[in-house]
Amino acid sequence: MYHAAVLTVSDRSFRGERPDTGGPLVAEVLRNAGYDVVRTAIVPDEQPLIEEALRAMADSGGVHLLVTTGGTGFAPGDVTPEATVAVCGRLAPGIPEAMRCASLRITPRAMLSRAQAGIRGQTLIVNLPGSPKAAQENLEAVLPALAHGLEMLSGRPADCAGLSRRG
Ligand code: MTE
Repeated sequence: MYHAAVLTVSDRSFRGERPDTGGPLVAEVLRNAGYDVVRTAIVPDEQPLIEEALRAMADSGGVHLLVTTGGTGFAPGDVTPEATVAVCGRLAPGIPEAMRCASLRITPRAMLSRAQAGIRGQTLIVNLPGSPKAAQENLEAVLPALAHGLEMLSGRPADCAGLSRRG
């Protein structure tokens, strides 16, 4: 079973002014897909604090998939993609490409998400938008294929030829 962590990036949820509904929903989607959600946290929209949380979660050793929600848009404070790129040694652009491709069928505003995905050590980090609906739609668009990526990342021999259409 793969271990996952969820990082909510939101000034208002961090300050306790708005309940964090996106993070728990993302965690539920991950659990339903068979992931063990081992860590959750909330940080404000500040790049150094986002980077620090990403490093702490990824470098804890037990997190295969680290999903963020929030801070991918155009507001001046939206810096989650920049923090993600800063802590990742390798990027995985196909994942946000697939999320935006699937989401464009739902709303043209999907193009406004600047989400990134990348690899830090043995952890795959994936950004999702902040609204719970958008976060769920984006995550569900890529979830079927992620386990195969995590298998490759863990160094286990991965049989690409044995793939189904969904994953
Ligand atoms: N993707 C899906 N599937 N559904 C949505 O409703 N909303 C978009 C986009 N992606 C949306 C979506 C909107 S309106 C924005 S501004 C961006 O995600 C970024 O969201 P964020 O700033 O909350 O991270």
